[in-house]
Amino acid sequence: MITTERLLLRQWDDADLQPFAEMCGDSEVMEFFPQLLTEVESYSLANRMRSLIADRGWGFWAVEVPDQARFIGYVGLHIPRASMPFHPCVEVGWRLAKEYWGRGYATEAARASLDYAFAHLDLKEVVSFTTIRNLRSQAVMKKIGMTFDRHFMHPDLDVSSPLREHVLYKVSAAQHLG
Ligand SMILES: CC(C)(COP(=O)(O)OP(=O)(O)OC[C@H]1O[C@@H](n2cnc3c(N)ncnc32)[C@H](O)[C@@H]1OP(=O)(O)O)[C@@H](O)C(=O)NCCC(=O)NCCS
Repeated sequence: MITTERLLLRQWDDADLQPFAEMCGDSEVMEFFPQLLTEVESYSLANRMRSLIADRGWGFWAVEVPDQARFIGYVGLHIPRASMPFHPCVEVGWRLAKEYWGRGYATEAARASLDYAFAHLDLKEVVSFTTIRNLRSQAVMKKIGMTFDRHFMHPDLDVSSPLREHVLYKVSAAQHLG
C-alpha cells in the first residue's frame, strides 16, 4: 500500500471489478485503445493485475480517494510484454474514470509510483508510452519529469491502426531522485 497526500494505492478487491468494468466500457476513457472491453475482459484484466501484485508486491495498483471514492482507476508499475522494442523495462501507467480526470490524481499517483520504483526495485530508469495522439497521458509523463525518448510502432497493432505510432518517455533514477 502506498499513501500520498490525497490518495491510497492499494491491492485490488472484488468491489473494484464493477467500477473498473464501467470505466473500460466508457468510450472517452478508452479513446486511445483499440476497443472497449467487455465486462468479462475487464474482470479478467483486473484479476491479472491483482495476481501480479500478489506475486511481486507491486504492479498497477487500484487507486482510492480515502473518504471520497473507493475506486477511481489504476496507476502503477508494470513489466510490458517482451515484444516491445525497448524490453526489458518497467513502465509507469494509468487509467482513471472520467469523473476523476483533471484533478492531478494521475500525476500524484504516478509520482508515488516512481518513488516506489526507485526506492524498492533498484531500477536505472522507468519508461512510459502511449499513442502519439494521447496528449493527456503525455502531459502526465512530462509533469512527473519524464522526457521524450523516441517514436515507435506498437508491435501488436495492425499497420492500418491509427493508434500504431507511439511515443516512448523515460526518467532515470538520477533524474527522479536528483
Ligand atoms: C491520462 C489520464 C490518467 C490523465 O488523468 P488526469 O487526472 O487528467 O491527470 P492529471 O490531472 O494528473 O494531469 C493531466 C494534465 O494533462 C493536462 N491535459 C488535460 N487535457 C489535455 C489535453 N487534451 N492535451 C494536453 N494536456 C491535457 C491537464 O491540464 C493536466 O495538466 P495541468 O495539471 O498542468 O493542467 C486520464 O485522462 C485517463 O485515464 N485517460 C484514459 C486512459 C489512458 O489514456 N491512459 C493512458 C494510456 S497510455
